Amino acid sequence: MKKISILIAGGCGFVGTNLAIYLSKYFKIECLDNLSRKGSGHNLSLLKSYKIKNYNFDIINFQKILKLPKYDLIIDCCAEAAIEVSKKEIDRVINTNLLGTINLLKKAKIDDSKIIFLSTSRVYGISKLNNLIKSKNIQKKINLKILINEKNDTSGAKSIYGSTKLSSEMFIEEFAFAFNIKYIINRCGVISGPLQFGKQDQGFVSLWVWKHMNKEKLDYIGYGGHGNQVRDVLHIKDLCNLILIQIKKMNKINNKIFTVGGSLKSYTSLVELTKISQKITKNKILIGTSKTTSIYDIPYFITDNKLVKKTYNWSPKKNIYDVVKDTYKWIFQNKKKLIKYF
Ligand SMILES: NC(=O)c1ccc[n+]([C@@H]2O[C@H](COP(=O)([O-])OP(=O)(O)OC[C@H]3O[C@@H](n4cnc5c(N)ncnc54)[C@H](O)[C@@H]3O)[C@@H](O)[C@H]2O)c1
Repeated sequence: MKKISILIAGGCGFVGTNLAIYLSKYFKIECLDNLSRKGSGHNLSLLKSYKIKNYNFDIINFQKILKLPKYDLIIDCCAEAAIEVSKKEIDRVINTNLLGTINLLKKAKIDDSKIIFLSTSRVYGISKLNNLIKSKNIQKKINLKILINEKNDTSGAKSIYGSTKLSSEMFIEEFAFAFNIKYIINRCGVISGPLQFGKQDQGFVSLWVWKHMNKEKLDYIGYGGHGNQVRDVLHIKDLCNLILIQIKKMNKINNKIFTVGGSLKSYTSLVELTKISQKITKNKILIGTSKTTSIYDIPYFITDNKLVKKTYNWSPKKNIYDVVKDTYKWIFQNKKKLIKYF
C-alpha cells in the first residue's frame, strides 16, 4: 500500500523535527525550512541521518512551493514563534506566519491535500485573559480549575504574533469552505522538550535547563520579577502522539479546532521551574529580577483539553518533571554540539 506522504513546513524547527522523526516510522516525510531559526542547522543534520529531505527556501516563495511534489497532508509548523519578535520584525512575521500559511493552502488546493496547523494559545485577547485572572492569587485559579478552551474570547489585541496565527486559522476555514480542504487546527500552549533551542522570549523551559547546566544567570521578567507566572507545558512526545492519532483519523474527524496543552498534568511557575531545574541539574544559579512587564505577557495560562480528550481519547502522559528531565538528558548527551546554538 502507498505510504501517506507528508510535507512538514518548518520541519527543521523544534516541533517540526520532532514530528518528522516520529512520523517517519509510519509515513513518507519531507520538510521545508529556510534554517532561519538558530539550531535548525543542528536539527537538519539529524533529519539527514533519518534520510528525511529538507527543501531549503523561504515559505514566502510560492513559485518554489509550486515545484514541490504532491503531498497527501501538509503540517504547518513554520513560524516566527517568538511573540516579542513580532513587535519588532512585523513584515517578516506576517510573511512567514500568515502569507506562508496561505501559500501552503494554495498548494493544498491544487493537490487536494489535507492540512494540520500548529496554532497557539496566543489567539485569545490579552485583556480577556487578564480579566479571567483578576485575582492575584494564581494558586486559587489552579484550585478552581480555571482553564482556557476553544470557546474563550479571541477578540481584542492578542499580539502581532497571535493575530497572524488567528488570521491563518481564518484562511484555513475559508479554504475549507470554498475548496473543501480538510483541516485540523491545534491551538497549543507552551510546548517543550528535546531539540528546542530556547531563548528569553521563546522556549523558556529549555533555556532554564541550559542555563542551570552551564551555571549562567537568569532573570524573572515582569509582574514585579517574582517568577510567579504560570504556564502549562506540553511534552513534545505527547504532541507527536496526538498528531499521529489525528492523521490516522483525519478522514472521519476533520475541520475542527482544539486547544491542546499540558493542562493540569503539566504546569509550572518560573519559581517552581527553577526548583525542578536545580534538582535535576544539581546546580543552583543566580536569578535576577526585571520588574517591567511586557504588554504581551500574561500571568497565567492553563489549557482545557476536554474537547481533544473526548474526540481522540488523548491526554498528556508526561508532566513538567518529565519535560525538564528529557530536555536535560538531550542537552547532557549533546552539550558540545549544542553550545553554538543556545
Ligand atoms: N514551541 C512552542 O511552545 C509553541 C507553542 C504554541 C504554538 N507553537 C507553534 O508551533 C509551530 C512550531 O514552533 P517551534 O517551537 O517548532 O518553532 P521553531 O522556531 O523551532 O520552528 C520554526 C521553523 O520554521 C523555520 N522558518 C521560519 N521562518 C521561515 C520562513 N520564512 N521560511 C521557511 N522556514 C522558516 C525556522 O527556521 C524554524 O526551523 C509554530 O507555528 C508555532 O507558532 C509553538
